[in-house]
Amino acid sequence: MTARILDGNALAAKVREDIAKDARVLTEQGIQPCLAVILVGENPASSVYVRNKVAACEKAGFRSLKFVFASDVLPEIVFAKIAELNADPSVHGILVQLPLPKHFSEDQVLEAILPTKDVDGFHAENFGLLLQGRKAFYPCTPWGVMKMLASEDVVIKGAEAVVIGRSNIVGKPMAVMLLAQGATVTICHSQTKDLSFHTRRADIVVAAVGRPKFLTGDMIKPGAVVVDVGINRLQEGPDAGKLCGDVDFESAKEVASLITPVPGGVGPMTITMLLANTLESARRVAAKAAGN
Ligand code: GUN
Repeated sequence: MTARILDGNALAAKVREDIAKDARVLTEQGIQPCLAVILVGENPASSVYVRNKVAACEKAGFRSLKFVFASDVLPEIVFAKIAELNADPSVHGILVQLPLPKHFSEDQVLEAILPTKDVDGFHAENFGLLLQGRKAFYPCTPWGVMKMLASEDVVIKGAEAVVIGRSNIVGKPMAVMLLAQGATVTICHSQTKDLSFHTRRADIVVAAVGRPKFLTGDMIKPGAVVVDVGINRLQEGPDAGKLCGDVDFESAKEVASLITPVPGGVGPMTITMLLANTLESARRVAAKAAGN
């Protein structure tokens, strides 16, 4: 079997078109969706992500604000900026790019963002609401994965799903979202004893471990749906410098029925869901202004 490729670029373009249309309508009503992005330090990958997020905002007709601080900035200065953005009614979403330098408490920074403007869905309040199955801003990467699965009518109810990775950003919320839709979910991680035992039973595998080509074809059940959340830059070999996922695409695609590539898979959907969350936040402000 050779798997069908789930094209994240194509799906993202379609969803972003609808988002841009809705943004235009809101802007005509006097509320232009606005995302503020804070970057601390010079992590090259973070700089690229932030640039892409700002560019995506502009392309969708959103306003975007970018604040860049030196890596040795005092945390008080960043907290003051967050407070200012919290209080600014024209700002609908606030995002602090992670990771932060070591002298910051990421938890404290994320908790400083108003939950109603936490379009990354990282605030404990939004995470708690997600756990309870309530309306909230959901973390963009796992939510993007859910949209991708829905776009292909992947059956989640009753499916065996294995998530590899237990981060707050991807693994944990991913597991909760799959669970909410009726999957039987197993979360695997670096301490899991027999990873293949779990992955070979899975109808849906989501790899979010941050290790290049970690999940290989022999670890996958024939016909499974394979979602690759990894973005790794190869350090050595003939492909050094190239991006690759957590899945060994070449061997996995011979076993899976549907697979996401890297690049061009989950990545474009992450930014798309960030736009969707920011739009939703602006919509709520518009509804409140209209007295609804
Ligand atoms: N670092 C890696 N992924 C993300 C993300 O989705 N949001 C933020 N704020 N930082 C990240």
